[in-house]
Amino acid sequence: MKIAVVGKGGAGKTTTAAVLARTLARTGQPVVALDCDTNPNLGLSLGVGMDATEALLSLRDGVGDGVEHARSWDDIVARFGVDAPGRRPPRHGLQDRGPRFRLPVMRGLPEQLLGLDIAEDTTVVADFEAGIGTLTRLGETKVDAVVVVTDPTVKSLEVASRAARLAEEHTAGPIVIVANRVLDEADRDTVERTLSGRTVLVIPEDDAIPAADRADTAPLDASPDSPAVRALTGLAPLLAGS
Ligand SMILES: Nc1ncnc2c1ncn2[C@@H]1O[C@H](COP(=O)(O)OP(=O)(O)OP(=O)(O)O)[C@@H](O)[C@H]1O
Ligand SMILES: [Mg+2]
Repeated sequence: MKIAVVGKGGAGKTTTAAVLARTLARTGQPVVALDCDTNPNLGLSLGVGMDATEALLSLRDGVGDGVEHARSWDDIVARFGVDAPGRRPPRHGLQDRGPRFRLPVMRGLPEQLLGLDIAEDTTVVADFEAGIGTLTRLGETKVDAVVVVTDPTVKSLEVASRAARLAEEHTAGPIVIVANRVLDEADRDTVERTLSGRTVLVIPEDDAIPAADRADTAPLDASPDSPAVRALTGLAPLLAGS
């Protein structure tokens, strides 16, 4: 399954993609978190840490300059990534393998990466570059679901509306709007007015998210019970249609 996470700059795509990837990995299925941003920081939100994230970036930047191009999806996964941490919910008492965090070798081009032959049982969560240009460039490549992240500002909602319409051309699966950083009823009303008829998951404004970012930890590790993280864990079931 290929899931694209799109939206305006700063809306919360990376935070959403990271919590989604780690939530999905808890079920035991193979998950690859794909950072398609030229300015990648998905590793930080997954809890991979600054050093490993930067090491992956230098590896990717070395392609064509001493580092060989990857020829296949498996090659990319094997050579251009590290395992992210992941843990089953505490009641299981077991350490689980987390999602494999992979930086793409092809200069962050989802239209190339998502068009590759990816094993059926693998779920790819792709954190797209800001805006809707990358969705347009997907061309004929299809994904299985699109998550459109927006904050409650008019500009971000306008991008989200266009992204959701465009997403219909690239997926036959669910399109879920993540309305992030919602403060109050007025924000909810604005979101509902602009995106009526869409499936919307509301995520509250929550200081735990920037606090985790500042501490270079995954929000899911730093504050699993914070309101925004709890709300974001509701995304995986929505995508599965349950
Ligand atoms: N629910 C939330 N409450 C408060 N702050 C949040 C919330 N979600 C995200 N943020 C903050 O907003 C900022 C942007 O989040 P994030 O990096 O996830 O967005 P992005 O869409 O990936 O940005 P970019 O377009 O730069 O890649 C970060 O500083 C993050 O801590
Ligand atoms: Mg981002």
